[in-house]
Amino acid sequence: MTYRSIALDGPSGAGKSTLAKMLARELGFLYVDTGAIYRTVGLRAFRCGVEPDDAAGVSALLGDLNLDMGYGEDGIQHMYLDGEDVTDAIRRHEISRYASGVSAIPAVRAFLLERQRELARHNSVIMDGRYIGTVVLPQADVKIFLTAAPEDRARRRYEELVQRGDSPDYETVLRDMIRRDEQDSSRAAAPLRQAEDAVAVDTTGNSLEESFDLLLKIIKERLEA
Ligand code: DC
Repeated sequence: MTYRSIALDGPSGAGKSTLAKMLARELGFLYVDTGAIYRTVGLRAFRCGVEPDDAAGVSALLGDLNLDMGYGEDGIQHMYLDGEDVTDAIRRHEISRYASGVSAIPAVRAFLLERQRELARHNSVIMDGRYIGTVVLPQADVKIFLTAAPEDRARRRYEELVQRGDSPDYETVLRDMIRRDEQDSSRAAAPLRQAEDAVAVDTTGNSLEESFDLLLKIIKERLEA
């Protein structure tokens, strides 16, 4: 059995996870949200009182990190930390900063790399993240780099937080988004950049359906080529 893989990279709030979930359902692929894995490590640091830029402190947490992923009948990826379902807890706003911080630590990236590759060895996957097409799955059958204007991405993240019952401030969300973009693209370990053979798709101003149709067309063309 040969498995196919689709790498969907890009900055936060470009619509990666929503679109990847829809595409996975349509194609019958497994959806892997790699940001959620980094968020779970970030949550662990937060709960242990370790600052996300404390590389030695965060690395020391990896030794007995009991992190698991599971798929419910709903096909949704759930994250578990020490057996506790933290799928919602990792989405809290302050955890974004922790996730971004810990993801810049080479030991964290090395630790998670093999777990992500393993999933693609045993399933057809659509994996969303930051460096899937460049580092995790350089042999992916389809690579897409999804982006949108920061204001569009901040608005989506703002609406997502409101839906979760938070009361965010749009300007703060936008400012944090721009700061996180800078941090994610300027770091030494796996900076955010487009793979040379990736198709760039800008979703600014698109409806969800428009972006979905466009991505599905690109993916089908490449999978069938
Ligand atoms: O996509 P997200 O907002 O859930 O990602 C959270 C953080 O994790 C983000 O700041 C960058 C980092 N990340 C990463 O470095 N590599 C990935 N493959 C996915 C996320």
